[in-house]
Amino acid sequence: MSIQKHYTGLIERYRSRLPVSATTRIISLNEGNTPLIQLQNIPRLLGKSVEIYVKFEGLNPTGSFKDRGMTMAVTKAVESGSQAIICASTGNTSASAAAYAARASIKAFVIIPEGKIALGKLAQTLMYDATIIQIRGNFDRGMELVKEVSAHAPVTIVNSINPFRIDGQKTASFEIIDALGAAPDYHCLPVGNAGNITAYWKGYKEYASDIDGHKAVTGKLPVMCGYQAAGAAPFLAGKMIDNPETVATAIRIGHPQSWNMAWAAQKESGGWFDKFTDDEILAAQKMLSQYEGIFCEPASAASMAGACHDISNGKIPEGSTIVCTLTGTGLKDPDTAIKQCAASHPLSIEAELDAVKRAILGNM
Ligand code: F0G
Repeated sequence: MSIQKHYTGLIERYRSRLPVSATTRIISLNEGNTPLIQLQNIPRLLGKSVEIYVKFEGLNPTGSFKDRGMTMAVTKAVESGSQAIICASTGNTSASAAAYAARASIKAFVIIPEGKIALGKLAQTLMYDATIIQIRGNFDRGMELVKEVSAHAPVTIVNSINPFRIDGQKTASFEIIDALGAAPDYHCLPVGNAGNITAYWKGYKEYASDIDGHKAVTGKLPVMCGYQAAGAAPFLAGKMIDNPETVATAIRIGHPQSWNMAWAAQKESGGWFDKFTDDEILAAQKMLSQYEGIFCEPASAASMAGACHDISNGKIPEGSTIVCTLTGTGLKDPDTAIKQCAASHPLSIEAELDAVKRAILGNM
């Protein structure tokens, strides 16, 4: 009988492709190895013959894809002797940074826009015991401050301008190729600060033609499709914007840090950017929950909104294989979910058999 080895995290799994040495102390919470789930009902509803998969990154240890980058960034920060990390965040990066700092026994400082963080993310960051600095300003201002302060204080930036973040996050592409045997035809992502689209493209380019040293399995690369919220869509405006606004607070960003690299991913892959209104994003979030049993946070659903739109209009043709990254779990933002379902609030009845029977029969 063979003993199955426990999954130990993405650095162990893809060690040869990541900048660690035999003596590096790995800071991990067993992140990565997230499920690639094939949608069963939505393609039928769209009336199109396509294979859609979602990479459910909400099942990482802190509930978002940020853990992939954070295991690398914190591992390297600790290796370099750093005692403290800092980030600006719309919520998920702060939760992830706080968790990995706790794991490494170092300090985490997080700068967040006051009142614009989903409740679950705030709760996590408090529990992991980071020092939370709320600013009366948005994420973009927070990013400027983090860059300035790191020149004056002994703290390592763990936003995605830290190249180790990108290295960790690129492993999601490796996992997709490992699962499908090749890259998909199209890869759909929500875009905020643009680190993730940069990381996926890097991962695909490194891995698509080189699985485990076997050159040219297919060599195929996906078309990269980046989707933004209409009120926070600098890639559609073609320039940075100053007052981004969207219900998808995770991607409420007007000055993406990985601007050039995201454009390179779009151009090199023959892909595109598009934008969707808050209502369209929330409708996609509800659709995934209602028809597939997959609950992601609003920002994540931008990828689904985009994929459905572009499959319906034929821009993504029938016969295609599509992967949508669902960047965070729906539990991050319970307020928005409950508000969205206000019309279908829970039934409230007397605690009696007849009342329960009526409730069931009236709702079959
Ligand atoms: N989806 C979620 C759930 C996010 O939290 C983010 C970014 C994105 C998508 C966009 O990814 O920035 O790489 O283009 N959240 C960052 C944060 C900004 O602070 O948590 P991106």
